[in-house]
Amino acid sequence: MKPIRKAVFPVGGLGTRFLPATKAIPKEMLPVVDKPLIQYAVEEAREAGIEEMIFVTGRGKSAIEDHFDIAYELETTMADRGKANDAIAGTRFRPGDVAYVRQQEPIGLGHAVWCARHIVGDEPFAIFLADELMIGEPGCMKQMVDAYHQTEGNIVCGYEVPADQTHNYGIVDPGEENGPLVEVKGLVEKPAQGSAPSNLMIPGRYILQPEVMRVLEDQERGAGNEIQLTDAMAQMIGDQPFHAYRFGGRRFDCGSKSGFINANIALALDHDDIADDVRAFVATL
Ligand code: G1P
Repeated sequence: MKPIRKAVFPVGGLGTRFLPATKAIPKEMLPVVDKPLIQYAVEEAREAGIEEMIFVTGRGKSAIEDHFDIAYELETTMADRGKANDAIAGTRFRPGDVAYVRQQEPIGLGHAVWCARHIVGDEPFAIFLADELMIGEPGCMKQMVDAYHQTEGNIVCGYEVPADQTHNYGIVDPGEENGPLVEVKGLVEKPAQGSAPSNLMIPGRYILQPEVMRVLEDQERGAGNEIQLTDAMAQMIGDQPFHAYRFGGRRFDCGSKSGFINANIALALDHDDIADDVRAFVATL
């Protein structure tokens, strides 16, 4: 079995739901407490043993490249002042462990992933959607990689949501269950309200075989007139093992304003230095 060494981070989206905040900065750079969303995803990948990070970017996303680079002025000034720079330790990659490829037009998640095909090559890989913030012990992708060692094939994360939210997401048509592993019989992107095969949505974490790139090559446009990853994955069911992994940790949909605010409050309560202040303030509201 080939190990999961590479992660793809599609970060080319326009972030229109967060305008005007995201007019000049990528939505993936919005901070939850003191760290941008994209760094949570990168750290989750590292925890899962993934070392090569592939960002699929677009115009206006250069802040992400700068974030994961050396900041000479900042680091030299901090060193001169005798300040430790532990706070930025997680923003560094080993030389050559990061690659950037551009998605020239935002025509869907499937298209974004396909833009990384040459760098992914012929091996299984992970995908992270950074606006889904997944908090677990161990992290979500580490749990999925552990499950992958049993199942091989393809695994999507699965997370139960109320029925009135299923039309916003990719949804699993579930088969047999074995602990947290659910056989995937079908996948549907943004089903019309009342037509979803289950409440099990896909919160932006995937382990896929490289064959998905071949499927994406000819993938026609689907929901929202976009080239959908979900549609390409659906075509692979039956040819290779396909499972959903029910994640039991916390999930915050930081692509929505309320999810983003909830994440900030919840994670602030995990920071000992500010938890009491924040808790006391929230209680006054
Ligand atoms: C994308 C995927 C969808 C997934 C969702 C998670 O949708 O297409 O399958 O459930 O992310 O947030 P988007 O939010 O880009 O519309």
